[in-house]
Amino acid sequence: MVGFVDIVTIVLATLWSVSGQETSRQVACYHHDDNLHSVYNFSMPDVHGEKTIDFSHYRGKVLLLYYGLNALQDTYKNFHIVGVPCNLFGKQEPGANGTEILSMLKHVRPGSGFVPNFPLTQKTDVNGEKEHELYTYLKAFCPPVDDIFYTERSGIYYKPYHNSDVRWNFEKFLINKEGKAVMRYPTRMLPSSLEKDIEDLLEEGSQTNSYGGEPGR
Ligand SMILES: *[C@@H]1O[C@H](CO)[C@@H](O)[C@H](O)[C@H]1NC(C)=O
Ligand SMILES: *[C@@H]1O[C@H](CO)[C@@H](O)[C@H](O)[C@H]1NC(C)=O
Repeated sequence: MVGFVDIVTIVLATLWSVSGQETSRQVACYHHDDNLHSVYNFSMPDVHGEKTIDFSHYRGKVLLLYYGLNALQDTYKNFHIVGVPCNLFGKQEPGANGTEILSMLKHVRPGSGFVPNFPLTQKTDVNGEKEHELYTYLKAFCPPVDDIFYTERSGIYYKPYHNSDVRWNFEKFLINKEGKAVMRYPTRMLPSSLEKDIEDLLEEGSQTNSYGGEPGR
């Protein structure tokens, strides 16, 4: 299902926004060009728990792990979004199952009949005792994007806390064509601000193909 020149961008994001000070910024992940760590080691059940989303299917593509909007997905070929609903922050994703999660998207957040044009995983813990191993990997290589910890506020439903934790819904992780996380973005950064980075990652592959050279970093 994956063309070899394709780029997979996985946006893994969680699903919400929070008001707050401008203490956040995007952060580059540590370079880790080894054979041990990539998103291809992981899989998750889809939103209905009926199929498996195997991230190795996105080999050679640029991938964004994000619960985002459809426009970004529509803009690029060989770029893919995977949404990761999460209920750890403000209990903003209470849906009991895929039907309820999709219904929430359609009618509440973002509402107005929104139907995602990209796959969603089942509800997933991205922090805490039961965090998914994919997020353990992502957080090990991508430093936190916000100085503020919302643990002082109400609405954080996991323990224990770590500095690298995902701070709130709608954090996003951008994955290159080798399955390596390369950039992490804060909640408040809009999907449209990611366009340049996505284009750069898509370019990396085509440069290699065109000139036979090494992709720039
Ligand atoms: C990830 O997958 C690669 C390739 O199959 C394997 O060599 C590596 O050991 C795996 N890493 C982990 C941490 O399981
Ligand atoms: C989803 O959960 C709701 C509420 O618990 C329930 O009414 C509905 O039958 C469930 N749907 C599926 C497909 O399990």
